[in-house]
Formats: sequence, C-alpha cells, structure tokens
Amino acid sequence: MNQHMRPEPIPLIDIAAQRRRLGKSVDDAVSRVLGHCQFINGPEVTALETALAEFCGAKHVVSCASGTDALLMVLMAKQVGPGDAVLCPSFTFCATGEAVALAGAVPVFVDVDESTFNMDFGSLKRGIATARQRGLHPKAVIPVDLFGQSADHDAVGAVADAEGLFVLDDAAQGFGASYKGRKLGTFGLATATSFFPAKPLGCFGDGGAIFTDDDELAQTLRSIRVHGQGSDKYDNVRLGLTGRLDTIQAAVLIEKLKIFEDEIEARNAIAERYARGLGNVVTVPRLASGCTSVWAQYTIRLPEGTDRDAFAADLKAQGIPTAIYYTKSMHQQTAYRDYPVADGGLPVSERLSDDVISLPMHAYLDEPTQERIIKAVRDALGA
Ligand SMILES: Cc1ncc(COP(=O)(O)O)c(C=O)c1O
Repeated sequence: MNQHMRPEPIPLIDIAAQRRRLGKSVDDAVSRVLGHCQFINGPEVTALETALAEFCGAKHVVSCASGTDALLMVLMAKQVGPGDAVLCPSFTFCATGEAVALAGAVPVFVDVDESTFNMDFGSLKRGIATARQRGLHPKAVIPVDLFGQSADHDAVGAVADAEGLFVLDDAAQGFGASYKGRKLGTFGLATATSFFPAKPLGCFGDGGAIFTDDDELAQTLRSIRVHGQGSDKYDNVRLGLTGRLDTIQAAVLIEKLKIFEDEIEARNAIAERYARGLGNVVTVPRLASGCTSVWAQYTIRLPEGTDRDAFAADLKAQGIPTAIYYTKSMHQQTAYRDYPVADGGLPVSERLSDDVISLPMHAYLDEPTQERIIKAVRDALGA
C-alpha cells in the first residue's frame, strides 16, 4: 500500500459479506413472497416460527414486529401496569426499560456484574426491596443476555421464584447462545428477541419474536399481535398492537437461520482470536461457567486512565470503527433518570459506561483483517 493512501475502512458489522454468502437464496425467497402477495401472515411466517421453535427448543414462537414489541407484548399479556415494578439492568439498550415504562409500570434499575456485564444478583435483591419500600408491587424481572452472552438464568430464576416474580428474558442480543447446554428461548416464562439487521440473527428491516412454553400466554400474545383480536375478528377482547412480523422479513430469516449455527461458530473463533491477541493489554470479555455467547458485540474495557476518545480516534484514523455500548446506562439518561435504582446505587454500570468500547465483530471477519485490528489496538495503547 502506498503510505499516503488512507487505510481501507473496515465495517463494524459486515452485513454485505453475509449477503454475498447467501447469494440468490434470499432473493429467491423474497421473490416467492412477491409472487404470492401474502405480505401479512403469509406461509413463511408460520414456517419461520416452526423453524425457530426447532432451533431453540421452545414450545411456542410468536413472531412480531420488533424486539421492543416482543418485550412490551409479554408485559401487556401479563397485565403489568401502574403500581407494578419490573426489575431490569441499567447497563443495557434502552428498549429493556422502555417497554416497562410503555406498559405503565415502573422500571427499577439494578447493577450488573463487572466481568460478564449481566445482571448482578445482590443488586437484584436490593432492587426488589427498593421497589417494595416505594410502595410498588414487584411483578417481573428482565435479565438481559448482554452483548450475546447468556445471563446466569439459574440465579435469576432462583431469586424470581423466591420473590414471586416472573422472568422475561431479553435475548435481543443473545438469541442463539445457550446456558448449561440449553438454548436461550427456553428460560423463564418467556423470552424476547430482536431481528434488527445488526443482530446476530437479523432480517432486512425490523422484526422480533417471543418464545414461551406457556400455552395460554402464547394464545394471548397471538391476540395482542393483532389489536387484541378475539375469536370473532370484529370483537377485540383486549388492547393490542399492529405487532406482526411481515412475510418478506420471515422469508429472509428462514434463509439466514440455515447458516446461523455456522456463523455462531465463526463468531466464537473470532472472539478467541481477539482474546489471544488482546488479553494482555485490555480486559477482554469473559464467559461465565455454563454460558456461551453469540458475540453480538466484542466489548473490551480499556486500562484505567486511557483516553477513550483518543483511542477511538487512533483506530478511526486507521480505518477501524469502534462503538460505545453504552456511554450512558439507562438510569443516567434523561428519560429514565427519575426511575428508582437499587439501594447502594449502580457503580459498576457507571464504571462500564466510562471504559467500555466495542470492536468490529461479525462472522465474516477474516484473519488478516482481524490482525490489523489487533495491531491497531495494541499500537494505540503503546503495547
Ligand atoms: C438488549 C436489547 N433489548 C431490546 C432491543 C430492542 O429490539 P428492537 O430494536 O428490535 O426493537 C434491543 C435492540 O437493539 C436490544 O439490544
């Protein structure tokens, strides 16, 4: 390369590479929908739900319009509303707590574990006590499988059982991962996921799904998905949404699901290469015992005292993008700062918001490109 040329930019997530691998299969699948014109509730929607159920082992899959709707629909189905509290981590994408507030309930933010970034159980217990002290009725807990790694579902389940709460797993970033050999989608009362294009299993627009083994809940969710429809189409029996996944997105996802296991394997190999190349200069993500990850993000922590903006600028100058998930935890954001936090505060969430940074991660990151990223990180840190 001529030394005056700018280094070739690397994508953070390479959706185009996946598109090349899928070739005509997605085009053909979309063409079939364009041919039969059943854009709403076409046969691909049911076929996808069946394939997703087989993939993760859940009894029912209810596809829907987004990951946010997936969370909201479960809260609506369980009649979570004013006076109720729902415990959720603060260090997460805003939709986790947003769905609770949209349902009319109060999100109570709890802290996360310093090494896995997932919900901390001491803080969860304190958050439940905080909710009660405030006269709220704790009804549910939403653990998040952050950055692709499964939360500790046994521990969450034990606290929830002891306190009489139901568990709604937010697997928007973690679908495809497993916990103690069981795939996400099978823990708690229900699991929500997102098919936003950048997710490990993403469509070409917005989409989501809910997983549950509960027959009654599945039936209620199918009603909520279509404006609360009852058995008589014109007698709506509850409040609902326009919450359907459209047929074209279902057709895209059916094709992508066929290569998903292979992509998860590739993501894990890439995560291992990062850990080998960077483990002695930054804090690399750690998988907790029994947990696997689909590496929605590869998020490192910079050494104390590192200027994160300067570090990101150094990488950017070499064509390497980074992202910060999340510069502000939920309880630090304008719309959420008046909601309660667990007693003792959320020091870990706040520290993480100050020192995390995510590197390019996708299933098509080849070894030479990854070596370039590793070298750039080491150089930027003077290692
Ligand atoms: C943890 C988490 N929950 C919920 C969502 C919401 O998903 P969607 O964007 O499909 O509404 C996301 C999406 O980014 C997420 O990362």
